[in-house]
Formats: sequence, structure tokens, C-alpha cells
Amino acid sequence: MSRSSRIPGFYKQPVESRRRLVAESVDLDTSELNRVLAAGGLDVTTADKTVENVVGTYSLPFSIGLNVRVNGRDHLVPMVVEEPSVVAAASNAARMIREGGGFTARHDDPIMISQIQLWDVADPVAARARLDAERATLLAMADAAVETLVARGGGARGLEVRDLGDGLMVVHVLVDVRDAMGANLVNTVAEKLAPTVAAIAGGTVGLRILSNLCDRRCVYVSCRVPPAMLATDSMHGEAVRDGVVLASRFAERDPYRAATHNKGIMNGVDAVVMATGNDWRAVEAGAHAFAARNGAYAPLATWHTDDEGMLVGTMALPLALGIVGGTLRVHPGARLALKIMGVSTAQELATVAAAVGLASNLAALRALATEGIQRGHMALHARSVAVAVGARGDEIERVAAEIAEACNVTVDAARAALVRLRGTAEASVAPTVK
Ligand code: MEV
Repeated sequence: MSRSSRIPGFYKQPVESRRRLVAESVDLDTSELNRVLAAGGLDVTTADKTVENVVGTYSLPFSIGLNVRVNGRDHLVPMVVEEPSVVAAASNAARMIREGGGFTARHDDPIMISQIQLWDVADPVAARARLDAERATLLAMADAAVETLVARGGGARGLEVRDLGDGLMVVHVLVDVRDAMGANLVNTVAEKLAPTVAAIAGGTVGLRILSNLCDRRCVYVSCRVPPAMLATDSMHGEAVRDGVVLASRFAERDPYRAATHNKGIMNGVDAVVMATGNDWRAVEAGAHAFAARNGAYAPLATWHTDDEGMLVGTMALPLALGIVGGTLRVHPGARLALKIMGVSTAQELATVAAAVGLASNLAALRALATEGIQRGHMALHARSVAVAVGARGDEIERVAAEIAEACNVTVDAARAALVRLRGTAEASVAPTVK
């Protein structure tokens, strides 16, 4: 995209104007956004061809994360998430990060691991030697199984043999899947090669499937934030910075905290994964397995202060995302999300998703290290509570503001506020659903 991902006042605009602003920023027709998003991104006839036993579709909010600049390039970032404050928090933190130059990111090649399990291997040492000797033949067989991938520049890149003990072995075929998520490709490779692998090793074929711990396909993202950007009404930037670093230490030393810390990261990552039609279960499985790779569950992102006093965040995680095939073939909403984001490779998409994850983490730690998350969270949650009691139009913001201000974000408080606002009898307001 040519324009900045910074659109001041975006959140104050009505939905129609936001669509127009996004369309203008990324050179799309507003009518395309209107058409695709009015249908919730997916119509029921298409949904029925996608999975089984369909009786309808199920919508979630489709929002835009702002201020995201990765390696000097701006992206408007579609995010699909049901949790209030995730989009606002990530956009807000991305703005602070932008002041320090934005995110710096790099990525591995898109290498997925195809696993072939063998059992009853009589002589694992000899089996390993024979498999190593046949490496070139096996890789050529793998390439032959995915010819179209090879034509797109991908294909088999390596073979690993692991002895799991008691006659159990596993052969990994490393496959560069280019712009695909790659699950189908590497499952095809595993099924095609398994009989030959078993014959060479002298064992019996077991499972043939990808590994979701795709640790050859990591993204690495970092940022430097000037402390002044972190200041709140009541705390200096340096104090907030130190609080974020302390929060990071907590996660580094305690798996109970690390799990929540990583959940905050995945708030951002998953929202981008969902918006772009990717497999968030695969991403979650890979991220958490990677977080425990050294034997103890650890934070995916950590924060420290550098010599110039800047707050520095770094994160690594495996991300198997695609921009071709899979859901994208059938889901107009996911295709639209990719157009808005303006990424040209799957790995570029992964760097943007990771950047949003790091921004989400900073937003959470900054809130936790200062006033706590409940005030901001409740202020946003108040709007859904207002809608739940029947507030419409302007009433929503007014009821939400009143109950948030009173720190009483409950259905009963919202009903009372709405009754007062309408100056009407309680009976005209939607009853509380128990
Ligand atoms: C809530 O969805 C995410 C947080 O709990 C993350 C964190 O504690 O770092 C706020």
C-alpha cells in the first residue's frame, strides 16, 4: 500500500466511512468491501461446500489494526476477534512502536516438516545409515509427489532420521511449501514416501502426517520503543518501561505467568490468522510447543532496556500461514483481508501477524504494569453490555460511558442507565436475560 497505516480518528468514524478510508488507502473499490463484508465474508451456499452438515454461517467482527509498520512498510491489518480491546490495544501499542521506527522482522524459508513414523525397526543404527545413503532418491521421490509445488519454486529440502528408542523411528522430510500453509502438501509427501522409507529402514509404517511444531518456519520480530511513548497520566515513561521489563522477567521465570503472557501475544496473532482464513489451531499448537522447546514453558516474547534506555522487545515463533490454497480458495472475506493487508508472500504475512502479536503483548504488559487491564477492558466491554440491554444508535455510547465511568459494567446498571436516558418506564427496555 502506498499510504500510511496511521489513520487518526478512524475509530470515531461510522462503519461506512471506515470502509471508504480503508478502500482508499489500499486502492480497492469501496463497493468490494461493502459487498464482501455485508455478507459476513462468506455466504451459506459457499459455506455448505466448505465443511459438512452446514446449517448457516457464524459471523465475528472484522476490524482493522492500525499503525503497523514492518521493515519500513505500512500495513492496514485485518483482524477477526470477538474480544473487546484487542484491536484497540494492538493499534495503540503499534503507534508507540512506530515512534521507535516500527517493527524489524525476518523469517526462515517456509519449511514444513513431514513425519513418517516407523516401528519394529530391528536395527536402528543400520536403518539410519541406509536411509542417509538413499537421501537423494527419497528427496527426488518427494519432489515427484508435489510437482506443482516444485514448479512454484518449492520442494523437498532435507531428510532427518530420529531414533525414538524401542524400535521406534521417525523420518522427517523437510519441504519448502512456498506460499501455501502446506499441510496437504507435506501429508502427500509423507504418504507417498512411507512404503519406500519403511522398506529401506526395515520397519513397519506408522503415522504419516505433518508436524505442527514447524520450527524451521519461524518469524523473528523486534522493536525499540522510546520510553516517553509509554507514559501514562500518572506514570513517567521510564517507570512504565521498567514495569514492562519486570513483567517480562515474571513470565521468564514462571510458566503460570508465561501462559497468560503468550495468550496476550496470540490475541493479536490469531486475529490476523483468522482474518486471512488460516488455520489458527495449527498456529496455536506450534506456538505453544515452541514455547516449551527447552523443556520448560517460556514466554515467546521478552522485553529489556538497551544502552540508550529504549524498551526493546523481541519475539520468535513458528508460523505456518498461507496466502494460496486452502480456505482462501472459497472464502471471499479471507481474500479481501489479504488484499487489504497488501502482503506478497506467506512469510511476509507471517511477519505482520507476529508484529501484531508483539504489539498486543506490549499493550497488555503496559496496562498491567500501570493501571491494570480492567478499566480499559471494561470501558470497551460496556458497549456490548449496552447493546445487550437494547441500547440503539447514540444510546450505546451514552449508556456505555455512564456505566464505565461508574465502574459498574453490569447488565443491571446498563438497564437502569437506559431507562434514565429514555426517561421511560422500565418495561420498554429489553429485559435482563438470565
Ligand atoms: C487477555 O486476553 C490477555 C492478557 O491477560 C495478557 C497478559 O496478561 O499479558 C491481558
